[in-house]
Amino acid sequence: MEPLVAAIDQGTSSTRFLVFNAKTAELICHHQVEINQSFPKEGWVEEDPREIMQSVYECMERTCEKLCQLNISVSNIKAVGVTNQRETTLVWDKETGEPLYNAIVWLDLRTQSTVERLINKAPGRNKNHLKHKTGLPISTYFSAVKLRWLLDNVDEIQEAMLDGRAMFGTVDSWIIWCLTGGRNGGVHCTDVSNASRTMLFNIHSMDWDPELCRYFDVPMEILPKVRSSSEIYGCMKSGSLAGVPISGCLGDQSAALVGQMCFKEGQAKNTYGTGCFLLRNTGTKPVMSEHGLLTTVAYKMGKDEPACYALEGSVAIAGAVVRWLKDNMGIVQSSSEIEKLAAAAGSSYGCYFVPAFSGLYAPYWEPSARGIICGLTQFTNRNHLAFAALEAVCFQTREILDAMNQDSGVPLTQLQVDGGMTSNRLLMQLQADILCMPVVRPTMSETTALGAAMAAGAAEGVQVWTLSPDQLPHVTSEKYEPQINSDESEFRFGRWKKAVQKAMNWET
Ligand code: G3P
Repeated sequence: MEPLVAAIDQGTSSTRFLVFNAKTAELICHHQVEINQSFPKEGWVEEDPREIMQSVYECMERTCEKLCQLNISVSNIKAVGVTNQRETTLVWDKETGEPLYNAIVWLDLRTQSTVERLINKAPGRNKNHLKHKTGLPISTYFSAVKLRWLLDNVDEIQEAMLDGRAMFGTVDSWIIWCLTGGRNGGVHCTDVSNASRTMLFNIHSMDWDPELCRYFDVPMEILPKVRSSSEIYGCMKSGSLAGVPISGCLGDQSAALVGQMCFKEGQAKNTYGTGCFLLRNTGTKPVMSEHGLLTTVAYKMGKDEPACYALEGSVAIAGAVVRWLKDNMGIVQSSSEIEKLAAAAGSSYGCYFVPAFSGLYAPYWEPSARGIICGLTQFTNRNHLAFAALEAVCFQTREILDAMNQDSGVPLTQLQVDGGMTSNRLLMQLQADILCMPVVRPTMSETTALGAAMAAGAAEGVQVWTLSPDQLPHVTSEKYEPQINSDESEFRFGRWKKAVQKAMNWET
């Protein structure tokens, strides 16, 4: 039996564990568990760290059972990688092993007033005041302001801080710490891609930055150790995989970039998950955006390897708009139903839906924007709304692609995509139409998990990640060509931009 590599993919909406053939990238089996989100106050989004860990254990055990049913021994799994929703912020007690508050999810807006205060006191009220070090604008999105909120507002965290018991981490750190033993010697670490999303990390020196920590008044002793994305962090302490090394760690968008084999400068991918994230590899030099994109550390494939950077266009709400139509509005019973409804409409008939539920991210970075639906007539029904929701995902991608092309000067000629939503063929066609360029989707859509498994395998001497896609029989793709003319596409995009202006100025 050829060696297997596996990945824990802990996303905003669900957790998965997936096992791949390390030589061919074939997906052997997997298990998935949905994650509950809570919205305790308007704009707040939390998840339970214990439920996250429970889902990780359950996914691993169930996948191992499935492997046994296929007559494959679990001992063939040589390495496990971790990939995760980024920025989501946790603090736990290293003595009890218990979380001290819920995880504050990346989408959470509770720090909006803190962010406004920080921007107001920055020279020239410049939201990009810290960008030269972090690659990021000051925003509710990143971990530093969430951590500040936890330190200021949760008594248990303040006490644990004073006693030296508090540990901070993003979801990767929490998972790795728990799996490697937790309060009995768990490893407290993160990788460069996740660290670069905290606003406490200097993307040039590749370490925590004392000045940034002082700016956000964050004590450096609670931070995890920063490691590369591909090295042995520790071994699983219990369960069916006890003893297996955890040797890959990547934020989910970086993992998708790796899983899509975008190792060369200029290569890009767009992932449609809860949000939507377009990353373009810029090689070993960080490129600063002039058009509202982020500069982020993409990966560092080994202790002695150089770091690779990416320009990133982040959209907060993509799959989340479908979940909202299902959970909040009851317009669909299941997420997959949206395609049928939108197909029945065939067009939005002038209805535009800007789902700015968490403000607007790239390229606007406007936390006070709010969602709007406009252009309604008596004719509008739920099918048109479904269509407008899918179109919103495509228009947002168009905005970040335009910004990316302006920043890089070398326009993309086709878009490589992945993520759960890409199984929606109508969405893929709409995306090609709105971009006026081909959209290419791998038939194996679990590229995020594949990237993390590849990073883990690389550290263990399984070199899948150095192969090119055409060497991997299980990486095939499907292409969508634009089917409308560019005038029609420009007209619709122009209308969308007007709707965005209304979402940004809805109070005036
Ligand atoms: O930055 C947030 C991102 O990592 C979340 O990804 O897949 O949960 O939408 P996803």
